[in-house]
Amino acid sequence: MSESEKHKIEELTKKIEEHNYNYYVAAQPTIGDFEFDKLLEELIQLEKQYPEFLSPNSPTQRVGGQITKEFKNVKHKIPFLSLGNTYSEEELKDFDDRIKKALGNDSEYVCELKYDGVAIGLTYINGELVQAVTRGDGESGDDVTTNVKTIKSIPLKLRGHNYPKEFEIRGEIFMPLKVFEEINIEREKNEEPLMANPRNAAAGTLKMQDSAIVAQRSLDCFLYFMIGEDLPHTNHYDNLKVAKTWGFKISEHIKMAPEIMDVFNFINHWDEERNNLEFDIDGVVIKVNSYEQQRILGFTAKSPRWAIAYKFKTQRVSTILESIVYQVGRTGSITPVANLKPVSLAGTTVKRASLHNADIIEKLDVRVGDTVFVEKGGEIIPKIIGVDLSKRHEYSDKVIYATECPECRATLVRKEEEANHYCPNELGCPPQVKGKMEHFVGRKALNIDSLGAETIAQLYDAGLVKNVADIYNLKKEDVAKLERMAEKSVNNLFAGIEASKKIPFERVLYGIGIRHIGETTAKKLAYYFKNIDSLKNANLEQLLEVGDIGETTAKAILDYFSNEQTADIIKRLKESGLQFELSEDQLVNSSDKLKDVSFVVSGVFSKFSRDDLKKTIEQNGGKNVGSISAKTSYVIAGDNMGPEKHKKAEKLGIPIISEDDFINMIK
Ligand code: IVH
Repeated sequence: MSESEKHKIEELTKKIEEHNYNYYVAAQPTIGDFEFDKLLEELIQLEKQYPEFLSPNSPTQRVGGQITKEFKNVKHKIPFLSLGNTYSEEELKDFDDRIKKALGNDSEYVCELKYDGVAIGLTYINGELVQAVTRGDGESGDDVTTNVKTIKSIPLKLRGHNYPKEFEIRGEIFMPLKVFEEINIEREKNEEPLMANPRNAAAGTLKMQDSAIVAQRSLDCFLYFMIGEDLPHTNHYDNLKVAKTWGFKISEHIKMAPEIMDVFNFINHWDEERNNLEFDIDGVVIKVNSYEQQRILGFTAKSPRWAIAYKFKTQRVSTILESIVYQVGRTGSITPVANLKPVSLAGTTVKRASLHNADIIEKLDVRVGDTVFVEKGGEIIPKIIGVDLSKRHEYSDKVIYATECPECRATLVRKEEEANHYCPNELGCPPQVKGKMEHFVGRKALNIDSLGAETIAQLYDAGLVKNVADIYNLKKEDVAKLERMAEKSVNNLFAGIEASKKIPFERVLYGIGIRHIGETTAKKLAYYFKNIDSLKNANLEQLLEVGDIGETTAKAILDYFSNEQTADIIKRLKESGLQFELSEDQLVNSSDKLKDVSFVVSGVFSKFSRDDLKKTIEQNGGKNVGSISAKTSYVIAGDNMGPEKHKKAEKLGIPIISEDDFINMIK
């Protein structure tokens, strides 16, 4: 019986990886998302039923879920060198001369794009990905295997058969521009700090502790360098071609260049075309093709003599600063924005640029009417980097920063330690009020998806809602009078509002929008205080006792509850029937018995799924960590716990307990 299930798991695994390859590497999908999800779900269920056949490289592992508290530092077998850089054609010619001098005229170059991301080394043994390590300082890097496995274009098992038993392939992990832009749009909406550029975003994502979030970030990876004893060919180009057949994503834009002129043509082509790519590049890499010739040329201390990076100059234009406007965000934070005379830069038309805050304006001394330099150095949001003083008008005035909120005329404030000005009129300033409502009804909060930003604006402008509590006092007949509000929309809206009354306490707590309280903190507070009244009555010391709550957050909570108007909103929401305490079910299953206790969960369990086990740890105040260290309190071992983990726990003297021991702990 189980042999045939094993076979089925293997078949499904193959099929899913094939579809993954078609979609993410070959860019030629052969089934739809729905069917794909069905296959994956089938495999998940089978693996749950027969955990003994769950392989660490199963495609089900690509969704992530494992938490890594600290990334293990790993020494590179072969140093991870970087490349010599140049910005000038002259120096590139010198490079060519040096090569010719050493090799005679008998050499060929391979030209590649220089991907702007994070370098990674992937080790494969018997066709399976076993380790992914970042470049680090070149000698050793971080083991980010768990996170890398979520990158769909990186094969977990290789295709074909003729790959070496063991080899390393290096490449660049990057965030596609589209993904980067989407994340920043979302962040802007939530008033979270924007990510500076796709490279930082990729680097940050790769080092995240929660691999499930990494999986959502859609990173991608081009491979460009092979290391191994028995590679099939004796030159770089042919090996990359073969690596492609093993399932690696190798760029199509790799070109053989017999002469240095061909290299220049490649550079000029991509300097023009780079804005049409779906990812960032910051130059071109030129490599001598033959391994034998590479060996003859050798290395300097830092980089190979057989390769060089030609870096593109940052794209910069000048244009006129026409005006400065001030934007108010959901939390009242003010952002000065420069309106520019439209100008074309790096493939897009730039009309606006953020000026960030008063200090930046002061430092740049930009003035309305100035000709300014605008740059897009990897950043998607263009930056004003300076003023062309030679073009400044004789009678220009220094910018006087806004003193009043452009929306509600409240006097702006600036806290000493903060860079931004704020509009303090939290409950009366239109964009703040509307923004708060949008946050409140958002997917992660009260999830009223029939109430979008547009409807909120409509309701607000009609005077029907002034704060989130008013949502629950809306009358159908008033809403029906609004434009574009057909009966069906009205019914949907009210059904959504009604359903939101069942949303659990922690999400309501997140939704009411206390400053600095994100989803995770809201959850922690909810489980710690159990209901809104105990939270409201907590003093600074008590708040600081909750794990991971610092002074700023604690003060924001105190501020929030000391405000009479917010107290009234909470009172009204309570009267409307929203959840302001943990449910019976949550209470029964929660405690703070595991406060300050950290666990590593390993293996397969019979009474819990791994996710449930982790959730139970959290609900009881404990912490999940990904790898065993001296600080780990317990390892909960299930079937098939990895032998390495077992050894490590024993070595460090960390108690290894069973799931029954764990259940006794929380009883
Ligand atoms: S080859 C020993 N090829 O640029 C040669 N590197 O400063 C190894 N990079 O650390 C590098 N695109 O992260 C190579 N097509 C490409 C590349 C590339 C980007 C990065 C890589 C490296 C850095 C060099």
